Amino acid sequence: MRILVAYYSRTGNSHKAAQIIAKRLNAQLYKIDDLYNRKGPIGYIKTYWEALRKKYPYVKECRRKLRECDLVVLCGPIWVKRLATPIYSFVEDNCNKLKKLAYFMTCKEDLPYNYDVVKMNMMIGYEGECTYMQSNKEGQELLEDAVKFAEAVKKDLGLPSTEDLEETSSKEAVKDEK
Ligand SMILES: Cc1cc2nc3c(=O)[nH]c(=O)nc-3n(C[C@H](O)[C@H](O)[C@H](O)COP(=O)(O)O)c2cc1C
Repeated sequence: MRILVAYYSRTGNSHKAAQIIAKRLNAQLYKIDDLYNRKGPIGYIKTYWEALRKKYPYVKECRRKLRECDLVVLCGPIWVKRLATPIYSFVEDNCNKLKKLAYFMTCKEDLPYNYDVVKMNMMIGYEGECTYMQSNKEGQELLEDAVKFAEAVKKDLGLPSTEDLEETSSKEAVKDEK
């Protein structure tokens, strides 16, 4: 099973979560790069304005073999109640290559932001169920949510959970010792 975790992060939260998710899913990690400096207060204002106007920025062409991926996990922040605009650019640019998406969104508020899930699934022409989670946590708690999300993705794909894998390998180790 080939999985890619594509992330965009302005201040690092989504990057940290994406790293954990990719590791748990044994997936490749891909940074969506919009070649744009969004740092500092001016960067924040520009970003806010772009998100408000729903203007999708140019993002670097993705050279990964997306057609061969069974699942692409999108990981990024919520900007003005929608997933970050570079993530929209990535999905728009690659919509005919993406088979199935899962979504991990980082945010500050505790509101349901599932509009993006419906919209992006429509963009790639996917009508089935998908795994998504949003986390308004930070630090260790955010990483714990990322772990929960990765386990939910595994369940959705019918893959063994990390706990099952650990149990099997410890049983095998005991057998080897005998
Ligand atoms: C321009 C902008 C708009 C934002 N709008 C929202 C919002 O509507 N709702 C929300 O909960 N958080 C909002 N946030 C907060 C981010 O989603 C949150 O801090 C996120 O964890 C940042 O992720 P990152 O560190 O990966 O960039 C906004 C942040 C920025 C920069």
